[in-house]
Amino acid sequence: MVELFIQTVFMEHIAPFAVITGASRGIGAEYARALAVQGYDLLLVARDQTRLNQLAREIQQTSSVQVWTEPLDLARPNAAATLYRLAQSYRPHVSLLVNNAGFGLYGLFTDMPLSTIQDMLQVHIHVTTESTRLFLPDMMNQRQGAIINVASVAGFFPIPYMAEYAATKAFIISFSEAVAMEARESEVTIQVCCPGYTKTDFHQTAGHSPRHVSPPHSPHDVVQTSLNALKSHQTLVTIGWQGLATQWITRFMPKKWLTRLTSRFVRPNYPSH
Ligand SMILES: NC(=O)c1ccc[n+]([C@@H]2O[C@H](COP(=O)([O-])OP(=O)(O)OC[C@H]3O[C@@H](n4cnc5c(N)ncnc54)[C@H](OP(=O)(O)O)[C@@H]3O)[C@@H](O)[C@H]2O)c1
Repeated sequence: MVELFIQTVFMEHIAPFAVITGASRGIGAEYARALAVQGYDLLLVARDQTRLNQLAREIQQTSSVQVWTEPLDLARPNAAATLYRLAQSYRPHVSLLVNNAGFGLYGLFTDMPLSTIQDMLQVHIHVTTESTRLFLPDMMNQRQGAIINVASVAGFFPIPYMAEYAATKAFIISFSEAVAMEARESEVTIQVCCPGYTKTDFHQTAGHSPRHVSPPHSPHDVVQTSLNALKSHQTLVTIGWQGLATQWITRFMPKKWLTRLTSRFVRPNYPSH
């Protein structure tokens, strides 16, 4: 009885704990800043330890939350198990997992190095699926917690010249929506956040200069929309009117037309085209 009392009193004083992948820059770094404001202690994961440490210092200058950083290449086999083990070494209960790490690939599928495609499958599909499998049961037992899987509007339709990127994001959307339904009575929220074109290093890393009809979202807009939607337990989250428009167009336009149109819009300026 006394033990339970002590546990309850102490539990109430332990800050919620969030694990964020791809936190070294862009949208992931913005999740870290916003969650620190909400009082979450943080475990920040990415490959670039220098950037992670800079962000940890920045956050600690403006808030009293605890921030830990772990360099981890999520393209390595069994990265999700390593992530889980690292999280457990800081706190037994994770309140929020943000599977945000990801990267783009742009160009003809047959030109892509097989090893880079394998890295994408590992980071987008294996890490998202395996970490959800590892972190979710404890959240369900606690009847609290949330997982945000960052996909993209690119997952709503096939995208020639970004074939594997769009397909892996489609997997994340389908997977997250299905597991969210299975978990719906557990009080745990599974969200799949689908930003459109957002101003980060993403496109430069992918070697792609997007031609878009509307200005990019800011990482701040993406993260605020995502975290606000957690309050209403929304599963599929898009950003602004652009996200809604993309959702409607891709739902109602015949897939063949959509794919052909997208192909014209996205295709690289190769001399052979
Ligand atoms: N920007 C957009 O227009 C846009 C649109 C829709 C969806 N998204 C999605 O949003 C997410 C975040 O992207 P962003 O726009 O913020 O791009 P970003 O600025 O390039 O950030 C990507 C993050 O992922 C991490 N990452 C990549 N590969 C990794 C690996 N092998 N192991 C560990 N971490 C890795 C990077 O960290 P390190 O390099 O330090 O490892 C970085 O922190 C991605 O899933 C992306 O697909 C972006």
